[in-house]
Amino acid sequence: MIDRDRLDALLARERAAFVATHPRSADAYAAAGNLFGRVPMTWMNKAATGLPVYAARARGSRLTDVDGHDYVDFCLGDTAAMAGHSPPAVVAAVTDRLASGGGLATMLPTEDAAWVGEELARRFGVPRWSFALTATDANRWAIRLLRAVTGRPRILVNSYCYHGSVDESLIVVGPDGRAASRPGNVGAPSDVTTTSRVAEYNDLAGLERELAHGDVAAVLMEPALTNIGIVLPAPGYLEGVRELTRRHGSYLVNDETHTFSAGPGGATAAWGLEPDVVTIGKAIGGGIPIGAYGLSEPLADLLGNRADLDLVDMGGVGGTLAGNPLSLTAARATLQHVLTPTAFAGMIAVATAFADGVRDIIDRAGLPWSVTQLGARVEYRFQSPAPTSGGASAAAADPALEDYLHAYLLNRGVLLTPFHNMALTSPDTTLADVAAHHEVFAAAVASLKG
Ligand SMILES: Cc1ncc(COP(=O)(O)O)c(C=O)c1O
Repeated sequence: MIDRDRLDALLARERAAFVATHPRSADAYAAAGNLFGRVPMTWMNKAATGLPVYAARARGSRLTDVDGHDYVDFCLGDTAAMAGHSPPAVVAAVTDRLASGGGLATMLPTEDAAWVGEELARRFGVPRWSFALTATDANRWAIRLLRAVTGRPRILVNSYCYHGSVDESLIVVGPDGRAASRPGNVGAPSDVTTTSRVAEYNDLAGLERELAHGDVAAVLMEPALTNIGIVLPAPGYLEGVRELTRRHGSYLVNDETHTFSAGPGGATAAWGLEPDVVTIGKAIGGGIPIGAYGLSEPLADLLGNRADLDLVDMGGVGGTLAGNPLSLTAARATLQHVLTPTAFAGMIAVATAFADGVRDIIDRAGLPWSVTQLGARVEYRFQSPAPTSGGASAAAADPALEDYLHAYLLNRGVLLTPFHNMALTSPDTTLADVAAHHEVFAAAVASLKG
């Protein structure tokens, strides 16, 4: 339906416009020759405009770049700022801890940790929590524990999942239906098909086939995929996963890092799920780095009784700055004052308005696209109905169209996540923010038709 030559020309126009209106950003990028890829972290080069947005300030749902342009931010740090940028309660708690408490790197416990553990237990239903600095590490450490406790070597994930830079998770169902390393997998320590198994999301038969080998310590999954577009569970799928994991003696880990958008206790609470382990990170720190994993009581007991596992030194689980006072003070303030049940109700209502409006624009334009919502998270895809597995969703990607929409929106003050077309709402996101997106999005869609 979309003329590709026209699309290429439109994208080139938007890129040129962005560079022309962002001279200070262009200078900053040019001056960063001692950074690998000119950015502090290579992913920051994932910029539809060819030049990263250099943020000067960010508050609530708004961000201002070094060239003085304001943006409504629906990226929210790819969920790390789901609490809004610099929420006042977190700023106050962190400032107090820094200025009055001090001692940010003592490797000693603080009282905030128990409060956060109790709150996470109440929200997610698993009672024994431990902390990391990133969700990646929470996943890494959780799966080590699960291999140890089962004596089984493999981890099973869904095709095109994302759980951070976890070696075992970089596996997909290949075109021939067999497990394969994810394309682009950088410097894998071993062949991932020997450490992992993979099944498509929503495919219970495939999951059962893989679990039947009897060597899977744990299934690590997002209750809904969020990193290849949002892929929601078909009726009965998650119940089937739980039943199959129990039947085959594999533990079930819900990675709630992104599905936390479903509600105050993530998809686990919203959908009444019963995982053995919950992992999470990003948003619970209100902008300060944190990761966490929670274990069921029987699992924690089993691990606690294993004298052969070195959990207090160099056994492979833990880190010097994990569980530091700043992360936990921030998490306490975030959970107590910012990402509250009331806040979630508001965020989800605003996200629903976002989804309804986008659906309306797409329908009126007669485009065969779809919109999917997971609580405070919304995604539009260039396929209808929405894909039901990671593989199908990966196949539906249209990088040029995606880049064009992102660049068009950026040039008109709207920021989406650089990965696919994901928009997230924070407690500060308003219906006016949503209306600002819709106005620009409708114009972008209209421009495709000439
Ligand atoms: C579901 C999920 N798990 C884990 C991670 C890794 O988080 P971090 O980058 O904080 O390690 C991500 C990051 O996007 C994620 O989406």
